[in-house]
Amino acid sequence: MSLSDDDDFEKALARLAGGDVVAIPTETVYGLAASIASDAAVRKVFALKKRPFFDPLIVHVAGFNQARGVAAEWPPLADYLARVFWPGPLTLVLPKRNEVNPLITSGLPTVAIRHPRHELTERLIAAAGPLAAPSANRFGHTSPSRAEHVAAEFPGDGLLILDGGPCEVGLESTVLGIEAGADGAADKIRVLRPGGTTEADLHESLRKWSRAVSIEKGTEGIQGPGQLKHHYMPDIPLILVGENGDPVSPDRLRRIGRELGAEPKRAAELVLDEDPAIAARELYDRMRRLAGSGADAIVVRKVASRGGGFWDAINDRLARAASFEIP
Ligand code: TXA
Ligand code: MG
Repeated sequence: MSLSDDDDFEKALARLAGGDVVAIPTETVYGLAASIASDAAVRKVFALKKRPFFDPLIVHVAGFNQARGVAAEWPPLADYLARVFWPGPLTLVLPKRNEVNPLITSGLPTVAIRHPRHELTERLIAAAGPLAAPSANRFGHTSPSRAEHVAAEFPGDGLLILDGGPCEVGLESTVLGIEAGADGAADKIRVLRPGGTTEADLHESLRKWSRAVSIEKGTEGIQGPGQLKHHYMPDIPLILVGENGDPVSPDRLRRIGRELGAEPKRAAELVLDEDPAIAARELYDRMRRLAGSGADAIVVRKVASRGGGFWDAINDRLARAASFEIP
């Protein structure tokens, strides 16, 4: 597959304007995009993905004006974080404007917004207006970090895929809930999904912020695909195994067999790079290649020392992609 040219770009604009969906590259993963102004296109996103309507979509913008056009409030802390991290892998959840189609937000009073860092897509959004886009994979399945992954997810759907090359980050954005504190009270950030902006990045940036901020983990009642236990799953079972010993030793395979109900004939080990940025970039491509390699299970070794930074997001995705864990 070759990188998309001007013709594809114009075609993409025309399709979006006509109420159709287009797959777009971002620095995190590919998205399946609809103009937020088209109810039909937004419905088509849910239908193509087989995504339940209770899972809200992220609105992708190019710049502050578009962001403020969908958010009903733009608190100083959101403004600050957007200035530091946009364009980039950070999604801010803020009160929505009434005009934003409730299908996009699953009826929630809030809307998730981010400005992706990808030249082609930034140009597209600047021209087409804000785009609602989930990751361009079937619901619950491994996210796509290359154009060919998207093509494999939606064969025969006539989907236009803008090819922007392999995704630079390779993992989804960090999703933050922002609550501005009332006078004197600390502002609150809730990490709803760990991702391409690390907690260390957030802490570092907040050292230059004038007010007190607390950072908490957790979803507090918000249900979304990023929070569901089984998500990001490859076509064959992925099994997390403990750190010690050979991950595909006969003993381990017997244990896996007991859990699976059938001993895997070929278990392929997914070996992650030591450098978490590289491990993140390669994760979904590796998972997909192994799932298509003829193996009947993927085994990933958990490494206790791998935490913090990008590892938080990698470990989160592995845990959700896994069918089960054995020691
Ligand atoms: O990097 C990304 O974020 C990619 C690229 C395409 O931008 N998009 C992505 O979208 O991962 P999706 O739909 O796969 O995940 C969206 C996440 C879900 O965890 C969802 O629950 C959360 O964002 N979300 C969306 N709207 C929300 C809202 N109003 N409140 C809380 N969470 C929300
Ligand atoms: Mg997704």
